[in-house]
Amino acid sequence: MSTETLDKAKANLPVRGFLNIEDIKIPQGEELKQAILDLKKEKNAVILAHYYQPADIQDIADFLGDSLQLARQAKDTDADMIAFCGVHFMAEAAKILNPTKKVVLPDTQAGCSLADGCSGEGLRKMREQYPDALIATYINCNAETKAESDIIVTSSNAETIIEALPKDRPIIFAPDKNLGKYLSKKTGRDMILWDGSCIVHEAFSMERIAQQLAENPDAKLIAHPESETPVLDLAHFIGSTSALLNFVEKDDSQKFIVATEEGILHEMKKRAPQKELIPALVFDESCNCSECFYMKRNTMEKLYLCMKYELPEILIDEELRLKALKPIEAMLEMSKTIK
Ligand code: 13P
Ligand code: SF4
Repeated sequence: MSTETLDKAKANLPVRGFLNIEDIKIPQGEELKQAILDLKKEKNAVILAHYYQPADIQDIADFLGDSLQLARQAKDTDADMIAFCGVHFMAEAAKILNPTKKVVLPDTQAGCSLADGCSGEGLRKMREQYPDALIATYINCNAETKAESDIIVTSSNAETIIEALPKDRPIIFAPDKNLGKYLSKKTGRDMILWDGSCIVHEAFSMERIAQQLAENPDAKLIAHPESETPVLDLAHFIGSTSALLNFVEKDDSQKFIVATEEGILHEMKKRAPQKELIPALVFDESCNCSECFYMKRNTMEKLYLCMKYELPEILIDEELRLKALKPIEAMLEMSKTIK
């Protein structure tokens, strides 16, 4: 590992007074992998990872999944420590669901543009403005925002949940306006939308993707519903990360243009090695990448450090936790039939 990477990994560690950062030795290569596996045993830890994580983290995880699957795993684990390889709101949801476990996140700066752009106070104001409305909030938000919500949804259960909400109540949907527009179209429900978006999915270019489709007439476009409407209008299939993976595995087509964060290609290639996967193009012609900068803040080195020093740890005020738990539990109850 370069000195620069090593410094970045150490800089993430909020050290206690007794720990001299210069003395920390981080193993390399195969030794690093083995050291993480040893820590897992020693600390009775479980490593949960999202499909957008770096490939080496996906490979070492005990469980790889979408937001809903990861929340369920976090709730049900009997491990003492959850090393959550995803972004902050996911690790926070794990702590909300399973407060007696120690939850560590390799990098506390692993945020999310959707979560950062929506505050609990903002939702409170919307509730004052629309007192009859139910607030359905995407899981990509922080605990304060969850605490102001009536129900939480993820991309894999949102349609089922929105359809089941009482028809006589208006719906406020936050924070992803693109997912909200998609859901409104699918369910026929009018929604008052929070003005937020995912910086990764809104970067896909409809024009450049249309060109990719023209050049690959045998390919199907698959897209995550956080993408903008013009991209979704072109898509042959729209779904959560796990739904996209299942589609590629089961569909007869041999070629797919994939409009979501490119970390998912790692698992897609494993599940469908014979199929051709083409990352969808973004607006910026100088960069063909669609990486989530936040998701990629986590590294194997930081995973090792967070497990070894049990830091950074996710902690949450108990009153807030209980408030945020309610709409998450309502979500889990309403999505029992979803895998
Ligand atoms: P899902 O894995 O639930 O589809 O969510 C995608 C995402 O953007 C997570 O940040
Ligand atoms: Fe947030 Fe988008 Fe990154 Fe997912 S991909 S964590 S929604 S910024």
